[in-house]
Amino acid sequence: MKIAMIGTGYVGLVSGVCFSDFGHEVVCVDKNPDKIAQLQAGQVPIFEPGLEELMAKNVASGRLSFTLDLAEAVGGAEAVFIAVGTPTRRGDGHADLTYVMAAAAEIGAALTGYAVIVTKSTVPVGTNRKVAEVVAAASKVAFDVASNPEFLREGAAIDDFMRPDRVVVGLETQKARKVMSDIYRPLFLREFPVVFTGLESAEMIKYAANAFLATKITFINEIAALCERVGADIKDVSKGMGLDGRIGNKFLHAGPGYGGSCFPKDTKALARIGQEHAVPMQITETVIKVNEEIKRRMLDKIVDLCDGGVNGKTIAVLGVTFKPNTDDMRDAPSLTIIPALVGFGAKVRVADPQGRREGEALLPGIKWTDNAYQAAQGADVLVVLTEWNEFRALDLERIARKMATPRMADLRNIYSREEAAEAGFETYVGVGR
Ligand SMILES: NC(=O)c1ccc[n+]([C@@H]2O[C@H](COP(=O)([O-])OP(=O)(O)OC[C@H]3O[C@@H](n4cnc5c(N)ncnc54)[C@H](O)[C@@H]3O)[C@@H](O)[C@H]2O)c1
Repeated sequence: MKIAMIGTGYVGLVSGVCFSDFGHEVVCVDKNPDKIAQLQAGQVPIFEPGLEELMAKNVASGRLSFTLDLAEAVGGAEAVFIAVGTPTRRGDGHADLTYVMAAAAEIGAALTGYAVIVTKSTVPVGTNRKVAEVVAAASKVAFDVASNPEFLREGAAIDDFMRPDRVVVGLETQKARKVMSDIYRPLFLREFPVVFTGLESAEMIKYAANAFLATKITFINEIAALCERVGADIKDVSKGMGLDGRIGNKFLHAGPGYGGSCFPKDTKALARIGQEHAVPMQITETVIKVNEEIKRRMLDKIVDLCDGGVNGKTIAVLGVTFKPNTDDMRDAPSLTIIPALVGFGAKVRVADPQGRREGEALLPGIKWTDNAYQAAQGADVLVVLTEWNEFRALDLERIARKMATPRMADLRNIYSREEAAEAGFETYVGVGR
């Protein structure tokens, strides 16, 4: 099967590489000449474990290639995937569909024969029908549309794509179903669930799933705040709750609030869709508000550790990406917390295994260091913000010795008060304990 993948970001590149690994012939397109040049040179522009190797293997097999020329990729393709960004539109929280619609128009003009136009980007309900209108206005040939939202997690993207909990495909014709079934045949054969629905249901599933996960995180974060007041430990509470099969232990870890490229924008977009249809998404709207409060509470914790004022204090921050194993900084809690600390007059020293390339432009006025030990040098407070593996097993005694005042705000609960005290920390605060 010949596939064109429009957009080579976190989703498009992983999907393109994995489809080629399924045995399909994939041409990936991007508008960004730097990205295409890097990809053509065998370099992966993002940090995603395992991606470079899998990409090299499939390029070598001749099934995977990269181009700036959308028409070249789309001509003769049986399926054209749209995997461009859908960021929050400035001002109203709606998903910005500019890139999706621009891609749809270009695809329409480039189609040379029947193809299924598949939207992989996360898009509001009704978008696939609009994509169909835009493609139809530019196209002289027959086509179908399909909605195929993506659920991969950055940092585990290849495994998620190759061994998904489910694949969701919204479509309306048997012809499109045949094409989509052929594309996902390797997953059918291995009996991963593929859920066929209508277009609107597929679009809705993606937002409902992300809003639910954001709600679960926010729920446990709010319970954590109460735990701090009543003397309970959120780690025990999460464990006791999560063992209930109806609840489950995933997304039940208290932390500094959700961030990343999806949850913040998708919750806002769902709230907006609800408003437009006069069905307010009250739970989601509350989640968005509470998550902002949680990030502010983390700031208060750090200020409290500095005896009420961070002005002139040195703060070592471990981790700036929104989660480990990615270089993605979009809507990371660090982007709220660090600028506020800098604004209050703190000197911030940062270590992150992959965050610097993106983070340098986003976080001005801070000192980048190579590792946690360098970051801790002379610091008044150590803040654990992203739980990268290399921060999980630090020599805490060595860290404490390097600090001016060994105090720790462990916003991911990866250490305990006891081990921090044993290592020489005079104060330890976690989240919800
Ligand atoms: N990042 C994730 O973990 C994730 C997970 C599931 C779903 N999604 C959804 O997938 C979509 C893509 O997300 P992403 O993180 O990969 O975005 P991204 O910003 O990393 O990548 C988008 C890419 O599309 C390119 N592009 C834009 N318009 C183009 C055009 N007309 N032609 C060719 N290329 C074009 C951009 O240059 C960019 O490289 C979004 O809707 C997102 O919500 C993302």
